[in-house]
Amino acid sequence: MVYLADAARYEKMTYHRCGDSGLKLPAISLGLWHNFGDSTLLENSRQLLRHAFDLGITHFDLANNYGPPPGSAESNFGRILQEDFLPWRDELIISTKAGYTMWDGPYGDWGSRKYLIASLDQSLRRMGVEYVDIFYHHRPDPETPLRETMRALDHIVRQGKALYIGLSNYPAAAAREAIDILNDLGTPCLIHQPKYSMFERWVEAELLEVLQEKGVGSIAFSPLAGGQLTDRYLHGIPPDSRAASGSRFLNPDQLTEEKLVTVRALNALAERRGQKLSQMALAWVLRNDRVTSVLIGASKISQLDDAVGMLANRHFSTAECNEIETILRGAK
Ligand SMILES: NC(=O)c1ccc[n+]([C@@H]2O[C@H](COP(=O)([O-])OP(=O)(O)OC[C@H]3O[C@@H](n4cnc5c(N)ncnc54)[C@H](OP(=O)(O)O)[C@@H]3O)[C@@H](O)[C@H]2O)c1
Repeated sequence: MVYLADAARYEKMTYHRCGDSGLKLPAISLGLWHNFGDSTLLENSRQLLRHAFDLGITHFDLANNYGPPPGSAESNFGRILQEDFLPWRDELIISTKAGYTMWDGPYGDWGSRKYLIASLDQSLRRMGVEYVDIFYHHRPDPETPLRETMRALDHIVRQGKALYIGLSNYPAAAAREAIDILNDLGTPCLIHQPKYSMFERWVEAELLEVLQEKGVGSIAFSPLAGGQLTDRYLHGIPPDSRAASGSRFLNPDQLTEEKLVTVRALNALAERRGQKLSQMALAWVLRNDRVTSVLIGASKISQLDDAVGMLANRHFSTAECNEIETILRGAK
């Protein structure tokens, strides 16, 4: 069926300015790491993207290696883009990344100019687009001079192949240095993409402060800890869940009784707030106004509805914040 975007989509979402830039991102963005590769039916991926856009989710996040197999998420996204979303290309923020292993040999990984420029060219071909809105260096490279990596990113923007630059997984000190180099080169860093959730709080120590000081936005990936911060695993491991899928990123061993005690306590608090746990977990990440957007994954349309339903209650009382800290301290 021909796709017609919901005319009311922009009334359903909140948009936040990304750092000091001119760009606004939706409070909730959708990542295509899981559920968009060749092991997922294309029609399921299509329905997820359509529903997300109908909810005002204008930002779709990819990487060269998303699949499986690597590259297939971009190819499948490209096909759906051509078939469904071309009239709305200018209403979309499409991001991709390079930094993890993508092809054999010394030029298919890390952060050399050779790898980044070749990888983005491949990504553009797979997606069938002339440019991406944001291009990220996916992880810091301990060997390549930081200036080489940043010069490659600056070059990519000057070539018109990306509108903005982002960094992902850079620790605070490396992020500061990279942002300064990019500023010197005249291509400011738009955004940092770190892992951040109730279960993963490293960004609070220093990174968010650096980003605030430098006027760089942030988008928190895996804000639901891959599904652990939801009601998904409260009564066992559902066969269609990520933990049952053989994923090396979330396996049943991680769902310890101790973890489940924490999740149950958080779930009880979410219920008292009149929310699902997934909604409370997203609102909690967004409580910090240095976080521009939460970058979720979804295997079902109902999960997108849950995420957007969070916007109705983003506020936390001091007592609720304290209770969450107490529950999470118990988790250690
Ligand atoms: N920069 C990086 O290095 C990096 C690394 C990882 C991820 N990312 C980005 O972040 C995005 C999101 O990562 P993620 O998928 O780990 O995020 P997440 O939001 O923490 O986890 C998403 C998973 O949680 C479950 N879920 C979501 N909503 C739910 C709900 N309402 N109720 C119950 N379960 C729910 C689903 O798993 P089920 O399959 O069990 O339904 C879903 O696939 C990725 O797609 C990617 O774009 C970036």
